[in-house]
Amino acid sequence: MLRRKLRHCHILRFKFLVVLVFTAGALSLIKIHQKPDYLHHENLDLVGEYPNYNVNCSKILQGDPEEIQKVKLELLTVSFRKSPKLTTNDYINMTTNCASFIKRRKYIMEPLSKEEEEFPLAYSIVVYHKITMLDKLLRSIYAPQNYYCIHVDKKSPESFLAAVKGIASCFDNVFIASQLESVVYASWSRVQADLNCMKDLYRRSTNWKYLINLCGMDFPIKTNQEIVEKLKALKGENSLETEKMPSYKEIRWKKHYEIVDGKVKNMGIDKQHPPISTPIFSGSAYFVISRRFVEYVLENSKILAFIEWAKDTYSPDEYLWATIQRIPEVPGAVSASEKYDVSDMNALARFVKWHYFEGDVSKGAPYPPCNGIHMYLCLIKDHFQRF
Ligand SMILES: *[C@@H]1O[C@H](CO)[C@@H](O)[C@H](O)[C@H]1NC(C)=O
Ligand SMILES: *[C@@H]1O[C@H](CO)[C@@H](O)[C@H](O)[C@H]1NC(C)=O
Repeated sequence: MLRRKLRHCHILRFKFLVVLVFTAGALSLIKIHQKPDYLHHENLDLVGEYPNYNVNCSKILQGDPEEIQKVKLELLTVSFRKSPKLTTNDYINMTTNCASFIKRRKYIMEPLSKEEEEFPLAYSIVVYHKITMLDKLLRSIYAPQNYYCIHVDKKSPESFLAAVKGIASCFDNVFIASQLESVVYASWSRVQADLNCMKDLYRRSTNWKYLINLCGMDFPIKTNQEIVEKLKALKGENSLETEKMPSYKEIRWKKHYEIVDGKVKNMGIDKQHPPISTPIFSGSAYFVISRRFVEYVLENSKILAFIEWAKDTYSPDEYLWATIQRIPEVPGAVSASEKYDVSDMNALARFVKWHYFEGDVSKGAPYPPCNGIHMYLCLIKDHFQRF
């Protein structure tokens, strides 16, 4: 069970290009118009400063097969593969001069609309390696009105932590979690990492409306404006996967688990019943939750007791949020009746293409085959963050 085979669809590089182009356009606009009230997405010219990559990003986003093929070939070229990659030391160096870092890495430093400015979001990002991925992710979700808490794994190399600290030091609204965990696959520590950020974000500002949690391998497929529009429409409800618990997973919380040699082990001891009357639901580690939900989780004694109870179980992240979301008095909760189950596809939090679900949409597959790269994710040593 430990080795879960997950395949995650990525077309990161294509999107990376789009974001580059987007931000470059935004920055040039800021210069041209002295002080516009807000910038409009429509006005962001899709003009890149990488003329070597002759890629039409609009076509990629529309799923144009020829253009996608072209990019795939481009990725194989020697010149692309030999293009210089930034290291943690480069980031440590670059962030000693924040003005130049922000400019060079093309962060958008102004809210792009009044609507976005008035609807700040909070992000909890759990990472352990790959500083350039984190930079690309942060830059693509960055907006000055939002808040970003980054949890760096205690096992991460010192230089990685230093590089993240460097990036965080360049923004008032980006910070590292005040308490860092050593994240062990399928253990409580994964949840604790998010809880640490949740607490920090909650104290940091009363302004933000929703909290979204991410890992370092995520990448947005919506702009901040689109996310804000979606979340406003939720009107205080939360959006996360929460479904009937399959019976084969019940062992995960009916037995007592401990970390032995860096792995979560079933100790063969029965656990007491959970201290709530709501049944345990199955879901994902990832959520979109309102500020009121966060407040309730951090302060309600019943939830706190449930959290305490969950600490010695297997993969608590995959039932904790899903279950809290079904407790009637929780802000934005949905009924515990099976008819209100929310599948992963219906949850806004995240879109994952599972290799084994891909197929012909006209024949009932949830999505067509991946056009990018399948990330084969499983447990790589005790170091790998679950996904
Ligand atoms: C890119 O593709 C879009 C949509 O197909 C098209 O309208 C646009 O003219 C193209 N841009 C360039 C620079 O070729
Ligand atoms: C950063 O790197 C540049 C170029 O390699 C170098 O000139 C500069 O001295 C470095 N700065 C620091 C603070 O290490």
